[in-house]
Amino acid sequence: MAKPKSLFFCKNCGYQSSQWLGKCPSCNEWNSFVEEVVDRGDGPSKGKSSVAPAVRSFPRRLSEISLVEMPRISTGFREFDNVLGGGIVAGSIILLGGEPGIGKSTLLLQTALQIPGKRILYISGEESEAQLKMRAERLFPNRQPDNFFILTETDTREIFEHVKQLSPDLLVVDSVQTLQSQLLDSAAGSISQIRECAAEFQHYAKSSGVPVFLIGHITKDGTLAGPKILEHIVDTVLQFEGDQHYGYRIVRCIKNRFGSTSELGIFEMQGNGLREVLNPSELLVSASEENYSGSAISVVLEGTRAMMIETQALVSSAVYGTPQRSATGYDIRRLNMLLAVLEKRCRFKLGAKDVFVNLAGGIRVDDPAINLSIVVAILSSAADLPIDAKTCFAGEMGLNGEIRPVIRMEQRIAEADKLGFTRMFLSKYNMKGIKQDGLNIKLIPITKVEVIYKYLFE
Ligand code: TYD
Ligand code: MG
Repeated sequence: MAKPKSLFFCKNCGYQSSQWLGKCPSCNEWNSFVEEVVDRGDGPSKGKSSVAPAVRSFPRRLSEISLVEMPRISTGFREFDNVLGGGIVAGSIILLGGEPGIGKSTLLLQTALQIPGKRILYISGEESEAQLKMRAERLFPNRQPDNFFILTETDTREIFEHVKQLSPDLLVVDSVQTLQSQLLDSAAGSISQIRECAAEFQHYAKSSGVPVFLIGHITKDGTLAGPKILEHIVDTVLQFEGDQHYGYRIVRCIKNRFGSTSELGIFEMQGNGLREVLNPSELLVSASEENYSGSAISVVLEGTRAMMIETQALVSSAVYGTPQRSATGYDIRRLNMLLAVLEKRCRFKLGAKDVFVNLAGGIRVDDPAINLSIVVAILSSAADLPIDAKTCFAGEMGLNGEIRPVIRMEQRIAEADKLGFTRMFLSKYNMKGIKQDGLNIKLIPITKVEVIYKYLFE
């Protein structure tokens, strides 16, 4: 009997090596190598070839290939279609990653159930038929389509047998970590298995033109092997995220060969599945009548869409020697930078204060235009003076305390105006070319933080 063969893989990027390495030469991660048996040497996986149906390929002149508009299947969710760049492209392979319990299975089951007239196969290695039926009942009580099939199987050879017989129009695989290919001897969920199984499905998608969704789990620190090593195999990488304690969920696009990555879809998890949120502004601004100090509303761009989001700050005297700084939905390093600028350039005494920052709805925002409203919320809490609820902000703060312009200001102004805001603070440098006629909102151009402080609190 041949000796078992094992290889070492980097947990972070999937780099393969015949020996253990302390540092990955590909991604420079330390201590990331794990050993995996890829061939036990006892036989069943001989004659290695992919189990997906094969097609012969041949070189073709680029000039002879006609440009056909890729047919796209609508998901039935406008939000989801947008993220995908206008629907599901034929023959594409899409990876949906996210923490366990965030709602990946729900999103894809619900999507698959609401696509009309297509033959759909949902392959699950995670749940039993009865569990899937229960979930489907919850999403679509008593009206599940006839051409929807469920397969609880993890062996890819078996799966492709069934796929060949059924010839579906769309395939969902839940999840890639449960799949097992006979070609390898390593355990399901190991890096080599995940890579091999994903490659088999990619091969299938490309040769048959059937789109494939793969679900992949990631843990909080991204340690579990999976989505990271698949990013270059698949066409599209989507990330499903949100705070488990809130209902909001965001589908973010990280990579897309068939569309832009700047789009994002917002959903709300309800008792009977996901509901798309077409107008997020109304949800992310608290509807309280009273004005509290430490709260300011920002106009941010997420994807191509402008929306209002409430930023809250709490500034209080530090009880312990070292002041605490904490941020939810916002980068803590950026918060520290803003605080340093306020302290050094603008002479606000915050060095001995605890500062907490929170964004409404458990949402994460990367748009730098949110900086201004965070700064204002901090100042408002420090001074204990509230800001009028019909005032909003959009601007970035530089290291000298100057307010810098942000992109697509007109779109932000239009959103704020539409939602009935009466005042908007923005960088003076954003005022060029802005047409104010027809707007009800008053635009207040500013250059420095001190100016805005005088304007609001003195
Ligand atoms: P699930 O799709 O199983 O998550 P994942 O596949 O990412 O692990 O979703 C699990 C959560 O969603 C679970 O806590 C229950 C909740 N949920 C609802 O709130 N409403 C629903 O209609 C469904 C089906 C699930
Ligand atoms: Mg699941």
